[in-house]
Amino acid sequence: MASPADLPARIALMEAGLELVADRVGDITGPVVARLYRRCPAARASFVRLGLGRPDALAAQMVETTLHCLMSWPGDRAMVEITLRETLPHHCLTLGIAPAVFRALAEETAHLIIAAIPADCAAERAVWEDIRTGILGAIAEAERSPLIARAAVQAA
Ligand code: HEM
Repeated sequence: MASPADLPARIALMEAGLELVADRVGDITGPVVARLYRRCPAARASFVRLGLGRPDALAAQMVETTLHCLMSWPGDRAMVEITLRETLPHHCLTLGIAPAVFRALAEETAHLIIAAIPADCAAERAVWEDIRTGILGAIAEAERSPLIARAAVQAA
């Protein structure tokens, strides 16, 4: 794990990576949602069902929320872990979103960012690879929630 002294540098690299992505791709929302829908048609159905007539607005809001979690990871990992531990069961049990669909949005968001950082910006890419690994690990941990396990047993 990075030492606390590295933190300002890691946050600066995280932000520099995002600036590179903004220069090359602009707003990532459209491409992320397109990749998510190609991979998980169920995601589109969920945004339509839950979007109160504005599915694109809800999808954009969730990309923004996911991006916020990714950006907050280096500086406030504990807060992101708690958020994911609470919100994943809520998405799964109350909103009816499969954990695989939830995870896919995080994967596609991180993938798009990393793929858009030029190969010669190795330090920025490395920080974003660490963020992706960390977030996906935290999501896997949240998927092991006893609440989700109990619901799966009851549904069986
Ligand atoms: C891909 C499918 C997803 C859909 C359809 C979806 C949908 C929603 C909806 C409808 C809400 C409002 C919930 C309410 O008011 O009760 C919400 C809230 C929220 N979502 Fe998502 N979401 C998705 C993925 C994600 C992902 C990947 C993350 C984070 C990495 C995330 C983080 C949050 C957070 C933090 C909230 C607010 C707190 C909460 O209600 O638990 N969502 N989402």
